[in-house]
Amino acid sequence: MLEGPTFGPLSTVAPPRRLVELIYLCPVHVQGAVTFCTFVGMEENIVLKALRTRRSVRHFKPEQITDEELKAVLDAGTWAPTGMGYQDPWIVAVQKPELIARLTKMNAAVWGRDIDPYYGAPTIVLVFASDPAVWANSVCDGTLVLGNMMNAAHAIGLGSCWINREREMFATPEGREIMAELGLPEGLIGVGALSLGYPSAPPRDPKPRKADYWRIIR
Ligand SMILES: Cc1cc2nc3c(=O)[nH]c(=O)nc-3n(C[C@H](O)[C@H](O)[C@H](O)COP(=O)(O)O)c2cc1C
Repeated sequence: MLEGPTFGPLSTVAPPRRLVELIYLCPVHVQGAVTFCTFVGMEENIVLKALRTRRSVRHFKPEQITDEELKAVLDAGTWAPTGMGYQDPWIVAVQKPELIARLTKMNAAVWGRDIDPYYGAPTIVLVFASDPAVWANSVCDGTLVLGNMMNAAHAIGLGSCWINREREMFATPEGREIMAELGLPEGLIGVGALSLGYPSAPPRDPKPRKADYWRIIR
């Protein structure tokens, strides 16, 4: 069991496959009843709540997250949908201080600012994907992987923030050298990164959603 800060205990154990298949075979109203009993309405739905309440975290404790937490986040990334189901992206979690220092320097250099763009997070998760000239869905695929991981991190009480400039960093000779050291195939691009760790300060309040964000046409 993993403990979520807002949502209570979250089971990491998937329901038995046979049970899931049986529910799928039920008439829609039975499926609805199962969903209702499980989540007691949309407002209480733990997944929807997690999606609503995730915020970018930019202050981290130096303490490292557990392996169980890290693997739960990485695993969530692997379940993101990908174009044609190709599972094109590559995920690399970095906890090695020397490599984090190197990435920090490279990212700050691309940004042209003398600050830590990863906010001192003890774990940095890098997402790579094919060159879009080779696989047109690569950036979309990698973005969904990052999104899944951010939401998963929040659901288990971790803080995360998408960090940019990976595309430029890994297009440099030093970036390509690092990708080779990481054992990645040639020709990938950096899609984005996550700073990951235990939050040490509350995140910023979210901006209100713009009024015309979505519409329904019937
Ligand atoms: C594509 C993308 C790039 C981002 N790059 C950065 C970044 O480099 N540094 C940073 O602090 N936040 C970055 N963010 C986080 C956004 O600033 C943040 O998601 C936005 O302000 C909304 O806040 P929220 O995530 O708390 O809802 C990025 C987010 C996305 C989706």
